[in-house]
Amino acid sequence: MDRRPIGRSELVIEPLVLGGNVFGWTVDEKLGFEILDAYVEEGFTAIDTAQGYPNWVPGNAPGMSETIIGKWMKARGNREAVHIFTKVNSANQPGGLGADAVAKGFEESLGRLQTDYVDVYFSHWPDPKTSHEETLGAYDPMVRAGKVRVLGASNYTAEMVEAAQETAVVKSLPRYDVLQPRFNLYDREEFDALHDVIKAHEMGTVVYYSLASGFLTGKYRSKADFGKSPRGSGAEKYLDAKGEKILAALDAVSKANDATPAEVSLAWLVAQPGVTAPIASATSVEQVKSLARGVRLKLSDADLKTLTDAGR
Ligand SMILES: NC(=O)c1ccc[n+]([C@@H]2O[C@H](COP(=O)([O-])OP(=O)(O)OC[C@H]3O[C@@H](n4cnc5c(N)ncnc54)[C@H](OP(=O)(O)O)[C@@H]3O)[C@@H](O)[C@H]2O)c1
Repeated sequence: MDRRPIGRSELVIEPLVLGGNVFGWTVDEKLGFEILDAYVEEGFTAIDTAQGYPNWVPGNAPGMSETIIGKWMKARGNREAVHIFTKVNSANQPGGLGADAVAKGFEESLGRLQTDYVDVYFSHWPDPKTSHEETLGAYDPMVRAGKVRVLGASNYTAEMVEAAQETAVVKSLPRYDVLQPRFNLYDREEFDALHDVIKAHEMGTVVYYSLASGFLTGKYRSKADFGKSPRGSGAEKYLDAKGEKILAALDAVSKANDATPAEVSLAWLVAQPGVTAPIASATSVEQVKSLARGVRLKLSDADLKTLTDAGR
């Protein structure tokens, strides 16, 4: 399996990041451990979580996903063998990306993860009320102390990335080396708009909703299918003319490659210029194995073009 550097940073990962928003949501602790075990057994190391996952579930303690991952690393004694990506706040949470909220959020995340460093620390959502100087200034001591190896920004526009990179240079602060935008066969605009900044600043990207919340697995083809998972409602918006065209292309390419639509969707993402790795979550060990097959699958140029054209 090819391994890829994250932008200009020293960090090198395999071309798959396990999504952690399901831990404490559609996946309980016991199943979470099984999924995480299966993922590392497949040879992968990078796990994506956030301070806020999955705080939308009523009754959840804050940061359940980080807590489950922390307990798993402690039980397995494997902190050094994995790469932990986590994220701080979003603009609509108290404090946004202000210095105090970042410092507090970071310490709380370390506590839940039972570690003293994270491999990538992301600004989860832009916070227009806080300057880049303040946020990067809050990250500066963490980076200097080796508590954060790489900084990332999620859901930032190209203009925001440019402004943050300029601030880093002018104020001698650490820079973002990796972006986390939404990108999949259906949703392309956000990633496409970032192409130039990714190139200009030699940044890595780990892209989310790789399977469009499950839609690109092909299991949602009519309204009746949306009850198949608690996630079903999140996939509903994709079932339109464009979504059906993509599913038809996925069916054809899957058949020709003896693969599933989920696997083909990931293989397409791994082949896109500018993508370091897709992020995808799983709710079973079988899904983990399928994600692994997907990122190892090499599609022909003709198959890649069929898929690219279907989602235009
Ligand atoms: N930065 C951000 O703002 C942001 C936002 C959203 C997500 N993320 C990150 O990206 C990760 C991935 O996002 P996501 O989990 O929301 O969506 P996703 O990866 O697009 O969809 C994953 C879901 O599809 C289903 N699935 C996976 N493999 C499958 C297979 N082989 N066959 C059939 N179904 C399969 C599973 O759900 P069911 O089994 O329940 O159907 C799984 O939870 C998150 O965990 C998080 O780490 C980041």
